[in-house]
Amino acid sequence: MKRRRCSLANHASGWWIGSDGSGGLTTHFRDDIASSQMGEGSLTIAVHYSALNYKDALALTGSPGVVRKPPLIPGIDIAGVVEESSDAEVPVGTRVVITGYGYGENRHGGLATRVIAEPEHVIPVPEGLSLEHAATLGTAGITAGLALTALQNHGVTPDSSSLPIAVTGAAGGVGSLALALLTGAGYQTVAITGRTDEADYLSMLGATDVMSRQEFLSQPSRPLLSEQFAGAIDQAGGEMLARIIASTTSNGIVAACGLAGGSDLPTTVLPFILRGVSLVGINSVFQPLRSSPGPLESSRHRESAPGPDRSGHFPRRGSRDCSSSARRTDPRSRRGEGARLVVSEHCPEHGGNAADHRHTGSDEPRGGVFVVGTRNPRP
Ligand SMILES: NC(=O)c1ccc[n+]([C@@H]2O[C@H](COP(=O)([O-])OP(=O)(O)OC[C@H]3O[C@@H](n4cnc5c(N)ncnc54)[C@H](OP(=O)(O)O)[C@@H]3O)[C@@H](O)[C@H]2O)c1
Repeated sequence: MKRRRCSLANHASGWWIGSDGSGGLTTHFRDDIASSQMGEGSLTIAVHYSALNYKDALALTGSPGVVRKPPLIPGIDIAGVVEESSDAEVPVGTRVVITGYGYGENRHGGLATRVIAEPEHVIPVPEGLSLEHAATLGTAGITAGLALTALQNHGVTPDSSSLPIAVTGAAGGVGSLALALLTGAGYQTVAITGRTDEADYLSMLGATDVMSRQEFLSQPSRPLLSEQFAGAIDQAGGEMLARIIASTTSNGIVAACGLAGGSDLPTTVLPFILRGVSLVGINSVFQPLRSSPGPLESSRHRESAPGPDRSGHFPRRGSRDCSSSARRTDPRSRRGEGARLVVSEHCPEHGGNAADHRHTGSDEPRGGVFVVGTRNPRP
């Protein structure tokens, strides 16, 4: 397919990370980004929402590692509508999300009013799922959805075993979304967490049982332990993943998503050859998802999947994936409060355009980016 530069009729607005000329990074908001500065691709997408991921927080605060080649518009999760297209399969008006593929890292991302994209990088948003909800699911939601799909493809269903599915890092972004999706799909779950004080939150997401990480890891380190789980979604790696594999029942499956607890895997082949346990890897960054909205589909009609209420705010910590990450890098933030970064030419709460609106204090961005303060009340 022949690539062409999309002809942006208007300039775009967005965050711009540049170089200070001496190896450092500068960050400022621009409302004059010319089409020639937006990059190349077959699609122009009007960005309606973008989440604030941990990587975005790092990029915006000038941490090295994420922005390898400035200038760059950050924003790794994007939800919007195709505005211009030279690809018949993704016509103008298609509602899409983008996650991964280097957006916000090595090509311009979603913290802007427009993004130039390739058709093979977009996922159509299923009917019934709002763009806002799709954006909040983001990378963590896609990862959790892929892990759930892996379990289902392997034949591990709510009816295939009386044993539950283990979810590690359950109070984290991937973990909490995995819990919600599993619950919505009818599975029994055990939430394994280092924060047992979050038991109410985990129960609200549908956890059948909550187990302390310390207690789980206190089991002897053996390649085979008692069969406790029909399957698992693990984002910890390391010792945790090894014990999870050792505790999985015959012909069960473990979906490995992350390395929050370590990148090693201290186990043996015994669980694989004596119990037929399968270990599958989940990679949300490079997924051929174009024609398959599977992970989003799996959350579309799950009432338990975290999402915004009618006022656009989230029940408790439903938007935790992005806001918790941002909180970690923002010393001003307090537990239980987050900020939702909404990129739109129209204010999502009051209508009107960017120039007229200021939602938060003195440090909110200008132009088409709205920071909507979100207070997530504890029960
Ligand atoms: N494969 C992919 O495509 C993909 C996509 C997104 C993320 N990831 C990876 O998935 C992991 C989780 O991402 P996230 O966004 O969910 O992060 P997050 O919100 O920070 O959650 C991480 C959770 O890990 C648990 N944890 C922390 N230290 C641990 C330790 N020493 N041992 C075991 N568990 C520990 C904690 O769970 P509790 O709070 O319950 O104690 C924590 O909340 C990361 O490694 C990330 O890089 C992978």
